[in-house]
Amino acid sequence: MDDSELFAETPRSTGRLLDVTTDGPAFDAAYESARLRVETVGRGIARIRLASGPFAPARSWDVLRSQPPVDGAAASLAEGGVRLEAPGMIVELRDEGGRLRVLGPDGAGWLEQADPAAFGRGRLDAFPIVVGKGDVLPAGRDGVLARLKLTLDPDDRLWGFGQRTGGLDRRGRRLTNWTSDTFGIWHHRGSDNLYQAQPVFIAVKPGRAFGAYLHVSHLSRFDAAYTHPDRLAIDAFGGEIDLFLFAGPTPADVVEQLTRLTGRPLLPPHWALGFHQSRWGYDSAQTVLDVVDGFRARGLPLDAVHLDIDYMRGFRCFTWDPQRFPDPAGFVAAVHDRGARVVTIIDPGLKDDPGSGYPPADEALMGARVLRNADGSPFRGYVWPDRALFPDFARAEVRDWWGSLHGDSLVAVGVDGIWNDMNEPSAFDGSFAGGHSHDRPFPLGLEHGDGNERASHLEVRNLYGTLEGRATFEGLRRLRPERRPWVLTRSAGVGSQATCATWMGDNNSWWEHLEMSVPQLLSMGLSGSPHAGADIGGFRENASAELFARWIELGAFYPFMRDHTEQGTRPQEPWAFGPAVEAVARAALELRYRLLPYLVSLAHEAAFSGAPLMRPLGFEFPDEADSLDVEDAFMLGPWLLVAPVIRPRQRWRSVVLPPGRWRDFWSGLPVAAEAAARARPALLEAPLGRPPLLLREGALLPLGNVRASTAAALTELTLMASPAADSRFELVEDDGESVVDVGGPARTQLALSLRGSELTLSVGARSGAFAPSPRTLAVALRLDAAPAAVTLDGTEVQAVWDGERSAATLSWDDDGAAHEVRATL
Ligand code: GLC
Repeated sequence: MDDSELFAETPRSTGRLLDVTTDGPAFDAAYESARLRVETVGRGIARIRLASGPFAPARSWDVLRSQPPVDGAAASLAEGGVRLEAPGMIVELRDEGGRLRVLGPDGAGWLEQADPAAFGRGRLDAFPIVVGKGDVLPAGRDGVLARLKLTLDPDDRLWGFGQRTGGLDRRGRRLTNWTSDTFGIWHHRGSDNLYQAQPVFIAVKPGRAFGAYLHVSHLSRFDAAYTHPDRLAIDAFGGEIDLFLFAGPTPADVVEQLTRLTGRPLLPPHWALGFHQSRWGYDSAQTVLDVVDGFRARGLPLDAVHLDIDYMRGFRCFTWDPQRFPDPAGFVAAVHDRGARVVTIIDPGLKDDPGSGYPPADEALMGARVLRNADGSPFRGYVWPDRALFPDFARAEVRDWWGSLHGDSLVAVGVDGIWNDMNEPSAFDGSFAGGHSHDRPFPLGLEHGDGNERASHLEVRNLYGTLEGRATFEGLRRLRPERRPWVLTRSAGVGSQATCATWMGDNNSWWEHLEMSVPQLLSMGLSGSPHAGADIGGFRENASAELFARWIELGAFYPFMRDHTEQGTRPQEPWAFGPAVEAVARAALELRYRLLPYLVSLAHEAAFSGAPLMRPLGFEFPDEADSLDVEDAFMLGPWLLVAPVIRPRQRWRSVVLPPGRWRDFWSGLPVAAEAAARARPALLEAPLGRPPLLLREGALLPLGNVRASTAAALTELTLMASPAADSRFELVEDDGESVVDVGGPARTQLALSLRGSELTLSVGARSGAFAPSPRTLAVALRLDAAPAAVTLDGTEVQAVWDGERSAATLSWDDDGAAHEVRATL
């Protein structure tokens, strides 16, 4: 379809530019039939609003955080136009043609408006996934499509765009922003939208990155150099283009700017960073306890079990089946006794069961808390419990009520975390009990919100999952203020990172989906939502033994690590594939648990600056063209490069190494120095159970002891270090459960320097209120040969040289004081 076909009528252009006025760090422009406001709203953040009528009203559910004023931002009238100069970026409007230009601080062009902006009623049939039979566009500004076309630098890779299929660079694709329940077979390279809608992207080329967030919740679409090789077209319903621009100049800066504006990622409790086991079909308390016991009997680490819809009474949310889960509190306590946590699924669809003793549905109807049809009657759709009602999460009162529903049935019973599913929202075209076949789109005119905030489904749908997640998070925080809430959501939008972790929905047990999970999760992090995972082993169909082995190996590095599968598939617990795969799973799980102190520090970093745990190579090496284009390997934090095996029977992997000296994590030996020096691929051995994992030079990697779960104490902390001229890392620790304030966590500054043959590793004095339990602190220096001499705080000590791991190790009882290790190499 040609891009003009999105309009039902010939679109109106803005017309001539009539007037321009400056307003401190902003300017306004009036066109014959449009208005424009360009404003610096925060450090490194500009906002461009362009509408054919009044700007869209502010919404109480919006996620924007207010920003302190910015020094040095000012708009001024200049020869031939107006110019807004702000730290990091310049936005210009030329009198002639009335078009926008965005420039870097050095004057280099970033984006240029290609055509006059255009407005007109949109055409729904251009978006087949959105439309139900006979559905029509809501009236008024909702149905007006606004279009802005921008010219890109030919060298820009386009990263981000939220949850997508395909590669990391999405240049050349058309990308719809519309939350949809897309089954696994629809998760293929050419798929468009999935469950989430994060209309954000990062344009990156060596040495420069900037980003953008389309602050429009209505249905929208990016044509990312699909129709025209150098143009990015933005089409948005709602009658307005509201675009935030982030100045970068690195991808890390863009993510910091995006999450400063829309919310920093939540800080998960430690158990959420451990391993989770799940399946649709664990259909009784005994079955679940047997699974937990299966982990414990084999000595496999486990932190959480998930209860899918099987635990409910007839798929009624906030109930327990009296036969299969007769004693919910006793069951949860039994899981807790085994050192694990319980996560229960909650869907938004409440069984439409008035008067049958199901209070949530009665309260929903009586309190008029549900989505309404245009005539004001409650909207009903079919989901697991058959006919269901859908809460209207755009209203604060409904969010409060929803949060409180978690009290007696879940929190009081001891449930630890909540898993929100089907919240795109999703509904079927008929009864599930009678065998549903298809999704049924929700009518676009459904009404959300109240008072002067009544809004159509076209405006609110993309936020539904975000708002449900927020209601759940806030409910848990009220019900259990002493504990960090943990909510997992399937649908999400920009801003949900502040309240929810997420997973990639119903993937398949296919190698292609293992491979896809890497760019997918990288894109999530780049879009501001780092706490994400994909179902390990695949949800639909059956994993082969080797696929499962490779997937759990990779999953050890996912920010959220869960094994989950569909009802009716073969067993998918780590031991279900026989002893060889169980051994691989054990290695993966043990590595995951060793990595936890690192993951906790990275989660704190994410909560502070938005930096994702799982990062593209180009995030760490943004000046390196070759690194920018790697999408089948990634960095976990700054120190580890992971190159997962993504094909069957492969026992080697080629990896393009960023510059520097890399060491094999397992052996400590330097790898392919030649390859790194010339940015050539290195060929690395990849036996089952030992995927290529490389330690960067300068690494200061905190590792813990293997534990059955995070409920067990950390008794050893090892700092694995690889020499480099200078490097630093902040180790951040907390109790893993309580809500931390800024002064709370313990911080330890680690630093490494190499001067000639003198290597110094300093461990700063621990600050902060949190006191770790007694433990050994070890330093493991990965070196080419045993060091000639080692001192600890000036006194010569004996380091243990392990030739097989190329490591010189010394240890002491951790006392939280500053220490310095020196080694003569
Ligand atoms: C959806 C979820 C899946 C879950 C199933 C049953 O398909 O994506 O994870 O197992 O519903 O609740």
